[in-house]
Amino acid sequence: MDAKDIDYYALGFEFIETKTMFVSNYKDGRWDEGTLVPFGNFEISPAACILNYGQGIFEGMKALKTKKGDHVLFRPEENAKRFNDSASRMLIPNYNVDKFVSAVKKVVKANEDYIPPYDSGGALYIRPIMIGTGPTVGVKPANEYKMIMFTVPVGPYFPEGFTGIDLEITKKYTRAAPGGTGSSKTCCNYAGSMLPGKEAKERGFAQVIFLDAVHKEYIDEVGAANFFAVIDGVLVTPKTAGTILPGITRKSILELASKKIGMLTEERDISYKELFEVSCTEAFCSGTAAVITPIKSVVLEEKKRIFSEGEPGEITRKAYEMLTGIQRLDIGDEFGWVEKI
Ligand code: PLP
Ligand code: COI
Repeated sequence: MDAKDIDYYALGFEFIETKTMFVSNYKDGRWDEGTLVPFGNFEISPAACILNYGQGIFEGMKALKTKKGDHVLFRPEENAKRFNDSASRMLIPNYNVDKFVSAVKKVVKANEDYIPPYDSGGALYIRPIMIGTGPTVGVKPANEYKMIMFTVPVGPYFPEGFTGIDLEITKKYTRAAPGGTGSSKTCCNYAGSMLPGKEAKERGFAQVIFLDAVHKEYIDEVGAANFFAVIDGVLVTPKTAGTILPGITRKSILELASKKIGMLTEERDISYKELFEVSCTEAFCSGTAAVITPIKSVVLEEKKRIFSEGEPGEITRKAYEMLTGIQRLDIGDEFGWVEKI
């Protein structure tokens, strides 16, 4: 789609084709330098490992326009490192961190006409993927890979935006078991979450809250976002023990809460039962796509806990203003998280 034909003030989180993508190929034991090419289809063997065994990973990042008109990224090296952690879990060859960040900058620059205006609240979402393209029939890693980065202009992930979402705690489905692939951003984790998400949406919820696979008691995460709650005045979030994605937004919020909001923070097991107690006063979820989305209510079977009628809690609002303020350089980036392109 032509950049000038997009209504940047009405964007949701839907695919829109942009002009250029970055492609790098792995063959004979090494990655090539990679290059920018027009966005488009490519050929792949029906026996490709990604098509048969799901050997693939991805990342998600955003390029934002600041008030001054600069184009910025948020902690891109963190995405590069997590990309390699996911790759290692899937036996995919790692990609040099500096080359990853440089490719992100190249693909954003090539698609800069698609970066939504500052006051639209939108972003240019960057989607790096890495897939096993080599043919396999036995269950083993491919010998050839592709790394692709494409971009999509996006608005809010949840249409409810900052007014908050209603979530259903599921005991029917789990997302990841100990020793599995929950902490990797591998494609298969997301394919498996689509049915739980669809069923919850049919019942009027924005998403599901997944519980741990062993006890079905402790909160793992919210669809494709991390979970936070304020309990007894402490900002708590599930610990990263292998079943949840170690979110970069999550890590940043924890640092902001302790260093800038002056709150105690805790990474621990959180029983879903705690959400139904009066000591739990706020809840929200976090992610690159979700940013900070307040949770209005949670439901488990017949039990419902309403946190608010749409007004985000005080801590949720503070964390949101601080995080998004730094991300768009409206406030000082004292942690050095923002990189200009
Ligand atoms: N959890 C899952 C399953 C995700 O897919 C994401 C999105 O990337 C997150 C959490 C949040 O991670 P981040 O803040 O790095 O975007
Ligand atoms: C992100 O927040 O970047 C995600 O990857 C979430 C989702 C769109 C899969």
